[in-house]
Amino acid sequence: MEINLIGKNSHEHAKEKLATMYKDNFTSAEKKEYIPHHKFSQGAYLAMETRDENSPEFLLDAASQIATLGLGFNATALFGTTMHESAWTGNYLDSTFIEIAESFKTLLREKASNDKLTPVFVNSGAEANEAALIMAYMKRAHTGANKIIAFEGSFHGRFLSTLFSTWNPSKREPYQIEGHETTFIDYPETKNDQFILDIDPEWIRLWENPFSPSFEANLKEFESKADDLLKSEIASLKQLHEVLKENTHFAILVEPMQCEGGDRYSTNRFHVALNLIVKSYQVALIYDEVQTGFGLGRDFFWHRTFDLKDSQGNQINPEYITCAKKAQSGIVLTQDPCWENNEFQTSSVIRGYYQAIAIDQLRYKIATIEEYTRNKLNQLISKWDQLSSPRCFGVAFAFDLSDAKDIAPFISNRFDLGLLYYQAGDNTLRFRLNTAWTNEDIDYLFDAINEIANRIYKGETNKLEYTPKTKVNSPNEYLWHAKLVEAFSGNLQDKAAFSFAQKFFNEEFNLELIKIDGENFDYYKHKIEEIQRHTYEPTRQTSIEKFEKIAHCKDSIALALLSETRQLVGISFAGKITHFPHESGLRLVKYFNSPKTLYMLDTTIINMEQSQGMGKYLKYALTLIASANGNEYIYGRNRDIHAGAMLSINCSLGAIIEMKLKENYLDDEEHRDVIIYRQNLRWSNEELKYSTSPILNAASFESMPTLVNKICLSNFIDESFMANLKRFKDIAPKELQHFFTASGHSECVEKIFKSILIKNQKERTKVISFNHDYFGKQSFMSATLSGVLDFYPNSKVDTIGQLKEKLATKDYLALFIGDLLVNFTNEELKEIIKIAHDNGTKVVFNESVYFHNKKKLFSKDHGIIPDASYIHIAGQIGICMLQEEVYESRPLMMISTWDGDAYALSQAVSYLESPADAKKEFKIINDTSYAFTLKAPSIFGNQTSKKWYFTC
Ligand SMILES: Cc1ncc(COP(=O)(O)O)c(C=O)c1O
Repeated sequence: MEINLIGKNSHEHAKEKLATMYKDNFTSAEKKEYIPHHKFSQGAYLAMETRDENSPEFLLDAASQIATLGLGFNATALFGTTMHESAWTGNYLDSTFIEIAESFKTLLREKASNDKLTPVFVNSGAEANEAALIMAYMKRAHTGANKIIAFEGSFHGRFLSTLFSTWNPSKREPYQIEGHETTFIDYPETKNDQFILDIDPEWIRLWENPFSPSFEANLKEFESKADDLLKSEIASLKQLHEVLKENTHFAILVEPMQCEGGDRYSTNRFHVALNLIVKSYQVALIYDEVQTGFGLGRDFFWHRTFDLKDSQGNQINPEYITCAKKAQSGIVLTQDPCWENNEFQTSSVIRGYYQAIAIDQLRYKIATIEEYTRNKLNQLISKWDQLSSPRCFGVAFAFDLSDAKDIAPFISNRFDLGLLYYQAGDNTLRFRLNTAWTNEDIDYLFDAINEIANRIYKGETNKLEYTPKTKVNSPNEYLWHAKLVEAFSGNLQDKAAFSFAQKFFNEEFNLELIKIDGENFDYYKHKIEEIQRHTYEPTRQTSIEKFEKIAHCKDSIALALLSETRQLVGISFAGKITHFPHESGLRLVKYFNSPKTLYMLDTTIINMEQSQGMGKYLKYALTLIASANGNEYIYGRNRDIHAGAMLSINCSLGAIIEMKLKENYLDDEEHRDVIIYRQNLRWSNEELKYSTSPILNAASFESMPTLVNKICLSNFIDESFMANLKRFKDIAPKELQHFFTASGHSECVEKIFKSILIKNQKERTKVISFNHDYFGKQSFMSATLSGVLDFYPNSKVDTIGQLKEKLATKDYLALFIGDLLVNFTNEELKEIIKIAHDNGTKVVFNESVYFHNKKKLFSKDHGIIPDASYIHIAGQIGICMLQEEVYESRPLMMISTWDGDAYALSQAVSYLESPADAKKEFKIINDTSYAFTLKAPSIFGNQTSKKWYFTC
């Protein structure tokens, strides 16, 4: 299939479909008018539906789904998500999932260069920042401190506290609650990407001790010699210093490079000083790496490029690092978290893990893309006086327009040229590439930007013809992975596996797949040696005796590909691991002694045929056949970086990194470590106790594309998402048919609160709830309502009598009732709603628990209609249902990067439609703790009964 850029067909088709979502204000009319067709997306190109199922059109996404995609669409490594049972069941006690989470932790520690960090998985960027802030608040050194510091130009998300810490007044002010204003400090921006400077050791000593009697004098000394940039850094640090002296702030949020604010860079010199001074005042520093983390820049974490060190040369560690976007899940990294891993989605953590491994292996590719892009960018800027301040680092680049009003035509022309990119700040256009981008794609992108400049500045319009060389082969990935899932779940016989693979190679490459065994080995022996000789240098070649050993062992697997003329084109050999005790590290692996463990000796394709994906499919074939034959594990060794592409393929087969052996290759090349990975070939069907999704033990192939591609629903929704959301409309009371979707329990609460607040024109801000009720815990508002924190204006009551008294003060914006709903009679609830309404208070239900138990809505079942209601269905999907009066329908007022998760929603619908007795495994947890720690009940949930209603 060829890639044709988007045109009328996909646009008109989308308008029709989206109209069904916007009718009667069901959802806000804010989506881009194209409907993704994930199965056909490829690399940098997002496929869009047309009326013809097999003729999609393509969008070149130069924003990489708002920086959430590091490897492109349908990236090989991300298919690894589908290989794990826990991605389908949401079982976060699954032993393989726990291993993945542990392995992810090891990688994140390595990348942050801090082996004490623990990742806490949450659901989104804003939620990660809120969770970090809550932890900082709980541990604050100054008991009176209740304020946050952030920088002018910053963006930290759209939950309340993060929104109040987001600079853009048009986003923040409509929701600002008095008394909860964040203190903003000027941001010392450098208008180029040369942000690593030599730092004077005296500068470090200065900020290390702001209490020194000579501090002011020494600072003056720096100021007297400062250039403009240093002056602005000093001014900002002085402002900060004054604020810190008040002891009223518990945390400072900072992006290492401000993204939404307009790709604003700041220097290592500034960041060293910033880290040092806040440490002196015992204020927690949160590096918001939501957008910059996971390889946007050259380092995995952008702040690591600053090489933060104190005067003794010790690494300075921030108290918190927050991630989301490419991490696919929200993550808080900190040394001693207040809680661990309560509300998150297993599938997204797994996808984030694979994205992290593959991005890390591709750091040289990122450097090459940067170099190529920088040249193109400089050429573009030199052509147009109206464009300035080119900046490029890693896969991020941006430039400014001299006149902010030209932003609008730059944006309105983008789809006409088949592109997606966004504005950031007032007058910046900002781009996010990823490792799937080819030079050809980059050339077209710059030609297209140039063409838009032509249209705007010269009034000339040209048509650009462009058909990328990229070919769509993602349907093949789905074909293979569906088969692999069949095998892993024990539903594929070995003969069927082999004939599936044979048919594939025959049809796709006109090659014959054969098995090599004791009988035919001698015939192929020399050809195997020849392939080795032609492909590898002498030291890298595998000795023929090893191949021979495998060929002669009936429990091993050896495959070969033959051309029409019977030439050997490729081989893949995996043998019983016990044949290879001398391969370094193998005796250390977990399943060395298991009789059903294989070791992946070699997969090679002759040079001429490389780069068509043949090696990958041969590896797929070997895995499929190994699984169908009853094997349980395959181990393999990949040299760090050198074998990065192979590691990506292994990730796509569900590889878990079991260990990394340092200095394993005894040569003088760089990257001598070896990564030992393991593929699990069988799902273990573990007992499912707790789940982050509605329970579904079977994989559903229809939802596979959304399991591989988590896109920004705030921008694009696909057919499955539309259909699935309408299913929930069907079960909602007719009064509550205005929807937002959310990425987690806390985001449901935040969106509903914000919507009611803005509709009330902020005349009231106070919330009220019953003691021991539950509304999530990963935002300040959720935690306030759940009675964990007393942060936002609120009251708590125990009885209806007390509630009546409070409501009579006419002080309250909203009353929230959650798990306790079922404790009241219908009459009591009706009375509560009436009193609330008589006093101008809106009523919100959390119907999650009822839904999980009954697959129905409490409100509809009981005929009791609140003003707004929500169900947090699972992991990264929640549905908010509001009455029109409290529904903020204006576009883009409620969005966040993900706005939920299409895969989780499809799981939810399968649950909804499953037989009545198929229940989501929903548990009331009695202070359970286990290896993958669940400590929440001690700080969250019902404080009296010590029961904690688990609804994720
Ligand atoms: C730096 C930064 N922090 C936080 C967020 C909020 O993340 P989310 O939209 O997942 O809540 C964003 C989103 O763009 C971001 O760029």
